Amino acid sequence: MKDMLPDNLEHFKRLIKRSLTTLLLISGAMLSGSPSQAQTNTVWLDQLDLSAATQGYGVPKKNKTVDGRAFSIAGRTFERGFGSHAVSMLTVLTEGKARSFSALVGIDDEVKGQKPAAEFVINGDGKQLWSSGVMHLGDAAKPCQVSLEGIKKVELVVNDGGNGDYYDHVEWVDAKFETIGVSTLKTYDPVPSTPYVLTPKPSASPKLTGAKVFGVRPGSPFQHLVTATGSKPMTFTAINLPKELKLDSRTGLITGGALKAGNYTVTIKAKNAKGVAQRILRIKCGDRIALTPPMGWNSWNCFAHQVSADKVKRAAHAMVKSGLIDHGWTYINVDDFWENNRDSKDSSLRGKLRDEAGNIVPNSRFKDMKGLADAIHGMGLKIGLYSSPGPWTCGGCVGSYEHEQQDAEAYARWGFDYLKYDWCSYGNVIDGMPENDPYKVSSLSYRGGDRLNTAIKPFKLMGDLLRKQPRDIVFSVCQYGMSDVWKWGDSVNGNCWRTTNDITDTWTSVKNIALAQDRSAPYAKPGNWNDPDMLVVGQVGWGNTHPSKLKPDEQYLHISLWSLFAAPLLIGCDMEKLDAFTLNLLTNDEVIDIDQDPLGKQATCVQTIGDLRIYVKQLEDGSKAVGFCNFGLEQVDMTYHDLAKLGMKGRLKVRDLWRQKDIGNVDVRSGNLKLKVPAHGVLLYKFLPKV
Ligand code: GLA
Repeated sequence: MKDMLPDNLEHFKRLIKRSLTTLLLISGAMLSGSPSQAQTNTVWLDQLDLSAATQGYGVPKKNKTVDGRAFSIAGRTFERGFGSHAVSMLTVLTEGKARSFSALVGIDDEVKGQKPAAEFVINGDGKQLWSSGVMHLGDAAKPCQVSLEGIKKVELVVNDGGNGDYYDHVEWVDAKFETIGVSTLKTYDPVPSTPYVLTPKPSASPKLTGAKVFGVRPGSPFQHLVTATGSKPMTFTAINLPKELKLDSRTGLITGGALKAGNYTVTIKAKNAKGVAQRILRIKCGDRIALTPPMGWNSWNCFAHQVSADKVKRAAHAMVKSGLIDHGWTYINVDDFWENNRDSKDSSLRGKLRDEAGNIVPNSRFKDMKGLADAIHGMGLKIGLYSSPGPWTCGGCVGSYEHEQQDAEAYARWGFDYLKYDWCSYGNVIDGMPENDPYKVSSLSYRGGDRLNTAIKPFKLMGDLLRKQPRDIVFSVCQYGMSDVWKWGDSVNGNCWRTTNDITDTWTSVKNIALAQDRSAPYAKPGNWNDPDMLVVGQVGWGNTHPSKLKPDEQYLHISLWSLFAAPLLIGCDMEKLDAFTLNLLTNDEVIDIDQDPLGKQATCVQTIGDLRIYVKQLEDGSKAVGFCNFGLEQVDMTYHDLAKLGMKGRLKVRDLWRQKDIGNVDVRSGNLKLKVPAHGVLLYKFLPKV
C-alpha cells in the first residue's frame, strides 16, 4: 500500500491535470468560438482601406461620391458607402471569415443630364456571385445580398455598362460584411506600385537609332533627322545621299527637296570619340509617307484646354534636352484649343473665329503659327495640328466645316507636318443635331452608326486637300474606329486612324483598348497604322497633371503592346516632368525598333493561356517579337513549350528586349521556356533564327 500510494497519487494528479486541460480547452474554444459559435461582427465597407481600389477616374472616396458630394441615388440619400467611378475594382481578403456582404448600388444623381451606364458585379474566389445588370441614371438603388461562407477573396467590380465609362459615378452604399470573429478585413491591390528600371543606359560608343526607312513624296520639302545614342559630340556622314539632299554633319539633320520618285539606299555613319557606327537608311520617294508609325508628343493628355505656343515650345525643348530626340521621337503635335472657342469663359480663347475672308484665326496663345513651326523645325523636330470636319471641335473650338481648303492651305503655309482630324460635331452636320452640343455626347450617339458614305466623306475631302499641298502632311483620322475605319482609311489618304475611344491612365482603359486591336491588325502596313490612342505614362491629366495611375508593370505592358501593335507612339505627358522610370520606358531602342520595324506588320494574339495572352509580331529580318502579356492579377509562373504554335521553327536565340539581354537558345521542338510574368505585366522577347 505504502508503495502504491505514491503511484496512485501520481495517477490521481495526472487525472486532475488531464481534466483541467480538457476544461481549459473547452472554455478556450468557447471563448475564441468555433466557426459556428464565434461572435459575428458588422464590418462596414467604408471602414476598410479603400485606397487599394482601382477606378477609371478620380480617387476612391469614403462616404462621398467620386466628386466629393453626399450620396444620392434616384433621389434617395445615403450616409455611408464607397464612392467610385467605373471601371472600378476593390479586392477584399475575407479569408473565410465573412458570412455575407450586403449593399445597395447605383449611379449618383450628381451626373444629371449625362447618360452613364454601369454594371455592379461581386466575385468570390474568381466566380461571379452577383450582378446588378446594367443600371442607368435614375434607377432606384438596387439591393444585393450574397453569402460569402468559405470565400477567401471578394472582388467588388463596377463595369462600364457597355457605352464607355463616361460619367459613371457609381457607389456601394450601406455596404457591409457580416464577419465571424474578426472586426476588420484587409483590402488588397495585387499589382505592386514601386517603379523599377529594366533597361541599361546606352553605351558611350555611337549607335544609330530610329526609323530605318523614310518616305517622302516627289518634290516635297525634305526633313529627316538621323539619330544616334552615344557620347557627344557626334559627327554624321552619308554615302550615296541623293544630290537634292544635304546632311548637317553636326546635327544629323537631312534637308533639301525636289527629290525624284525612286528608292535611295544611303549609308549613314555616326562617329564620336568612342568609335563609329554605320547603318543603311532607305529613302523611298513615292506616293506613300509615314512608312513607320509616327513617333512624338501630343499636348492633349497633359495640357488639354490649357495648351499654348509657349508650352508647346517648352515640350519640344524638353524632347531635345531629355535626349528623347536621340531615339527617334519626332512630332510635336498641338491638339485642340489652338483655335478660338465659342463659349469658353477664358478670354485667351475668345476672339474672331475666322477673318473676313474666312481664314482661321488662331487664339491669342498662338499668335504666330509659322514662327512656332519654324522654331520646332529648327530643333530638328516636326510639328502637328488638330481640327475637326464639323463646325466645332470636341472642345467647342472652331472646326474646318465648309473651310476645308482654306484650312489645309493654312497648315501648309505655316509649315505643319501632321494633322489630326477629329470627327466630333460632324455628327451634327449629318443629323442636324442641336448646334449647342459641341462636345462628344451627341457624336457618341452617332458612334456605331453604319452610314458608310457619310462616315467617309469628310475625311476624304480633307485627305485629298492635304495631298494637294506643296508639303507632306501626315493625316491622322480620329473617329474612334467607327464604320471599320481600318477598311477605308487608306482610301481617304489616312496614314493612321484611331480604332477606339479616348484613352485614360487606368488599367481598364488600357486593357480594353488593347483587347480591341486584333480586328484591325490585318490592315496595318507602311503608311497605314491603327492608332489605339496616345501613351499614358509620365505626368498626365488633361489640364491637371498627376503621375500616371498605371502601375509600373502596367506601363511596361502598355509600351510593349503599343510597340507590338505598330501603333503611332505619341507621348502624352508633361515633357518637363519626365522621371527616370518614364525615360527608361521611352528610350529603349530595341523596344522602339519593334514598333518601327520596316515590315509594318501588327502583332495579334496568337495564343491565350488563362489570363496570359501571347502576341506575335513578324519582323523584317525574319525574327519575331513576342509579348507574353499577363492580363490577370496573379503572377504567371510556367514552363512554356508551345513555340511551334507561335509559328516558330528550328533553333532560336531568345533576347529579352526590356533588359536588352540574350537569355539563351531554344529548340522549338524540344525546348522549354521558363516564363515568370508579373500580374498586369509583360515579357517582351525577340526570337531570332540561329545561323
Ligand atoms: C477627342 C479626341 C481626343 C482629343 C479631344 C480634343 O476626344 O479623341 O484625343 O483630341 O477630342 O478635344
